[in-house]
Amino acid sequence: MNERARPESIAATLERSPYFMPFSMNRAFKKAPRLMARAEGMYYYTPEGRKILDGTSGLWCVNAGHCRKPIVEAVQKGVATLDFAPSFQMGHPLAFEFAERLTKFLPEGMTKIFFTNSGSESVDTALKLALAYHRVRGEGHRVRLIGREKGYHGVNFGGTAVGGIVGNRKIFGALVAGVDHIRHTHDLQRNAFSRGQPKHGAELAEDLERLTQLHDPSTIAAVIVEPVACSGGIFVPPVGYLQKLREICDKHGILLIFDEVITGWGRLGKPFATDHFGVMPDLITSAKGITNGTVPMGAVFMKESLYEAFMTGPELAIELPHGYTYSAHPLACAAGLGTLKVYEDEGLLTRAAELAPYWEEAAHSLKDCPNVIDIRNIGLIAAIELAPRAGAPSARGLEAHVKAFEKGCYMRVSGDTIALAPPLIVQKSEIDQLFGTAREVLKSVA
Ligand SMILES: Cc1ncc(COP(=O)(O)O)c(C=O)c1O
Repeated sequence: MNERARPESIAATLERSPYFMPFSMNRAFKKAPRLMARAEGMYYYTPEGRKILDGTSGLWCVNAGHCRKPIVEAVQKGVATLDFAPSFQMGHPLAFEFAERLTKFLPEGMTKIFFTNSGSESVDTALKLALAYHRVRGEGHRVRLIGREKGYHGVNFGGTAVGGIVGNRKIFGALVAGVDHIRHTHDLQRNAFSRGQPKHGAELAEDLERLTQLHDPSTIAAVIVEPVACSGGIFVPPVGYLQKLREICDKHGILLIFDEVITGWGRLGKPFATDHFGVMPDLITSAKGITNGTVPMGAVFMKESLYEAFMTGPELAIELPHGYTYSAHPLACAAGLGTLKVYEDEGLLTRAAELAPYWEEAAHSLKDCPNVIDIRNIGLIAAIELAPRAGAPSARGLEAHVKAFEKGCYMRVSGDTIALAPPLIVQKSEIDQLFGTAREVLKSVA
């Protein structure tokens, strides 16, 4: 057996490992690691062979389940055919084929696609596109970008700046100039234990008007929000909130960007949250489920008018000086084509709508568990918010995460909120297992 594959040896060397883990408690993790060595369908397997139910689709990305054959085979074939091809002033057929196929799944009116390699890159691309769009149309005075408190838009400079999670921002300096934030929509007092969209809070969208009055609307290029804010703790938009944001943006000529890195690809029961809520943004950022997490990829989808605004100068000029070495990487395109096939063949992009009522009941059945102060749900997403321990925020959440793993379920936590979003192939029996385990865990976490 290869030395590197031996579980005992992996665990023994972890404490000295050079691997600086992302968004992790490196020292604590390396002393007591939680490792996944293999995956199939709804399950991970630890190096010792323990089966772990995947309650959060990896990192909200494995929407079709793990190691799906059509995707694996597409990648295997792809890598043996074309390992890499430059995308600057050159191309390869899969990029064009994938873009064409993608358009069939996008909300009506989203017709053009810019490829990136992650959600963070999609966000920064969308922000740059918004600024450049105004500039090429003679509105270069629109330089401000607006995000929302508690929002998560990845970790690049633009995304960190428009993001609204304090812990992700505070140690990284002044970030990007010209950014402001509207208020978040989390309101335990009025909305705790809402099922689906909370009733109260549409008026919070009017906070955008406060910023238009402060800065003058003519200085604002774009507003970016997650239709359902996920990584910051799962906040479902109040009824009417997104519609109001759209109205205010329209009134002032501000672009609206929906960050659908998580909400895209079937999570809410329609291909995109844009379809679910019936509110059309100008740009959509995507990643994760676009390739089922198999090969890193992201994309920005945009309205025809945005693309057309750039196609006006001399033909022998580069219209957008932006892109990544790996934009439209052939392997990612192959994985994406395989992924779309699975989504389509198995009807996965609407499956969450069928399961949502069962999911909602299962989630809210935990209401009587110790320390639960709120439960939120939409589509195949659920949040179980726990009261923080006095003086130790996030400790209770972390303990729940670790105990769930010990009991055979992977559940992500955001602070003291347990976040559940299983692959869209989940069966009712697995939903029972997930919430049954959550109940046991909650009973054992003091
Ligand atoms: C809404 C949203 N935007 C952007 C990102 C960043 O994506 P990535 O980690 O692929 O850069 C995430 C990641 O969770 C996300 O949830």
